[in-house]
Amino acid sequence: ESTVTVTPARLGFDAVSKSLEDKVIVPAGYSVTVLYRLGDPIKGGVPAYANNGGDSGFDDRAGDHHDALFYYGLSASGDRDDANSNRGLLVMNHENITQDFLHPNGPTPAPRPESEALKEMEAHGVSVVEVTRDAAGGWSYVQGSALNRRVTPLTETELRGPAAGSDQMRTRFSPDGTRGRGTINNCANGYTPWGTNLTCEENWAFYFRRDEGDDAARTPAEATALGRYGVRAGNGGNFAWTTVQPADRSSTAYSRWNATADPEAADATGDFRNEPNQFGWVVEIDPYDPSKAPRKRTALGRLGHEGCWPGLFSDGARPAFYMGDDGRGEYIYKFVSAAAWSAGDARADDRLAIGDKYLDRGTLYVARFNADGTGDWLPLIFGRGPLTPGNASYPFRDQADVLIHARLAADALGATRMDRPEWSATNPVTGEIYFTLTNNSASGRPLNGTDAANPRHYNDPTTDGEDQRGNPNGHILRLKEANDSGEATRFAWDVYAFGAGADLDSGNVNLSALDASNDFSSPDGLWFSRATNAAGKVNPLLWIQTDDGAYTDVSNCMMLAAQPGRLGDGGPVTITNVGADGAMAAQSTIVGAAPGTNLRRFLVGPKGCEITGIDSTPDGRALFVNIQHPGDDGNGHWPATQTDSGATSRPRSATIVITKDDDGVVGL
Ligand code: FEO
Ligand code: CA
Ligand code: CA
Ligand code: CA
Repeated sequence: ESTVTVTPARLGFDAVSKSLEDKVIVPAGYSVTVLYRLGDPIKGGVPAYANNGGDSGFDDRAGDHHDALFYYGLSASGDRDDANSNRGLLVMNHENITQDFLHPNGPTPAPRPESEALKEMEAHGVSVVEVTRDAAGGWSYVQGSALNRRVTPLTETELRGPAAGSDQMRTRFSPDGTRGRGTINNCANGYTPWGTNLTCEENWAFYFRRDEGDDAARTPAEATALGRYGVRAGNGGNFAWTTVQPADRSSTAYSRWNATADPEAADATGDFRNEPNQFGWVVEIDPYDPSKAPRKRTALGRLGHEGCWPGLFSDGARPAFYMGDDGRGEYIYKFVSAAAWSAGDARADDRLAIGDKYLDRGTLYVARFNADGTGDWLPLIFGRGPLTPGNASYPFRDQADVLIHARLAADALGATRMDRPEWSATNPVTGEIYFTLTNNSASGRPLNGTDAANPRHYNDPTTDGEDQRGNPNGHILRLKEANDSGEATRFAWDVYAFGAGADLDSGNVNLSALDASNDFSSPDGLWFSRATNAAGKVNPLLWIQTDDGAYTDVSNCMMLAAQPGRLGDGGPVTITNVGADGAMAAQSTIVGAAPGTNLRRFLVGPKGCEITGIDSTPDGRALFVNIQHPGDDGNGHWPATQTDSGATSRPRSATIVITKDDDGVVGL
């Protein structure tokens, strides 16, 4: 029985219009402050960012491509204080880089200079940065805070859980397979009630080089597995880091991105053929203790991890974490801890030891969506069902193998292929789980590949090229666990909303009846307002962020807020899908919500960006949002253009803070 008072959520702002301006637009009565930009110095004595391509030392500066973020409160004495809304740590991901803006004249072609490659590596990873609110309500970050920290692809990490020490994790750097270096392409996130951050490795596969012919040097199972994760023979590796000739000839900081088996190496401890197996994990960081190495939690499986957001925690129940694998046709997963939640653990001092307790043992499940609005969580347990050495498509050797190759295990179990699973969010009142399915193309999921949970296939003429057919605008699913328990192996689901332009066919495409105040495309970031706000009431507003290519001719990427209701609110919707040649897929009738006036556009970003990453202070009065890769269309100059429309400086990814001019709760 919940004892909190639930305030019926309402949307207390006027919708903003779609925009192509090079500026963040928010509703009347709200203000935007640019807080933390690419290159901003976080350590004392580091010079201000010149933003001309000549800067270096990114392990002491903000990284690039700000992504998911979370606010961790600090007390006046600098200790953990979850309730403090005036001082805290922002932990955020730096997913990727825009090479052109990091060097004076763009990147030098291969062989890459070491200084350029080092800068590019260090601009990836994670920031921990202290932020404070001054007496007048203004926000700034604190250069030189002892808690400021960068985790980069060079930071030493620990491997934990069932796959740690597996022979498939052994490398020249870590012959026993228990340690690694860094984290990369960190996309969405999660938090724990014991005060740690979960950062998720998404498109890591494409950083690896594998030479033509390497498949022949591997066992058939290895070649299958590398291909399934996109580490294909013939891949050159993002940014050609392996072409660096380091000044220190013994350094493997660059050669470690070459996963080609070295014919002169006796085994995997002599090269980096297994280095790709050290990526694709959920990584736990203690933001309050910069001395602690991040821990890769292998029990949660190796994927193209988007996020890892918890369900509701309940004393005595085993907690669950929900995870999307962002690829066309990939799956939705959850991890259920083996340990029942003990609320006292929320206050423990050794936070990563609590992580060991809850995140190193448990069961990984993958979702199968049934046409009748039910679903099943299928366990990835070695020895069960097809997950045995006798499995034809890939012989599983042990539980470590199942976790390292979770995608292959999910294939064998017959899970439902999805339209690119991105973030999840948990309604703090109902416990329902929302998932964004950002989009899919006709090649990723053809007309005859539709199913009840991925039901739309249409033509959006405003989208370029082959991507215009399929589900270019994406949708949002909602799951309700059986008995509202994260331990459940059954769930119910519906479609909360379909992305669409308001002008698209209302019968088969714009099924959620979106209008000019709320039409959107390619939902990605997803977040519920924190359960408490300044009024001490629950405020379950759902926030939706877009990463779009389909609707950017009409509007830059955006963020919307919703009062989402509950599973089943939407009633049945019938869809008739028609292919390019007039072929028709079977008509499907599904349960789909029509959010209508309960969904409203709150923000539109500057040119070329995506909107990603969102959290607030516990009181809800400051909303932090990340603006990722502004100006990537080649025309933008944000954030300088936020206050000077004629600015011509290089664009920079940045965190903004949004406040209400009357100091109220944002969104209400
Ligand atoms: Fe990094 Fe799935 O977006
Ligand atoms: Ca994303
Ligand atoms: Ca995305
Ligand atoms: Ca992105």
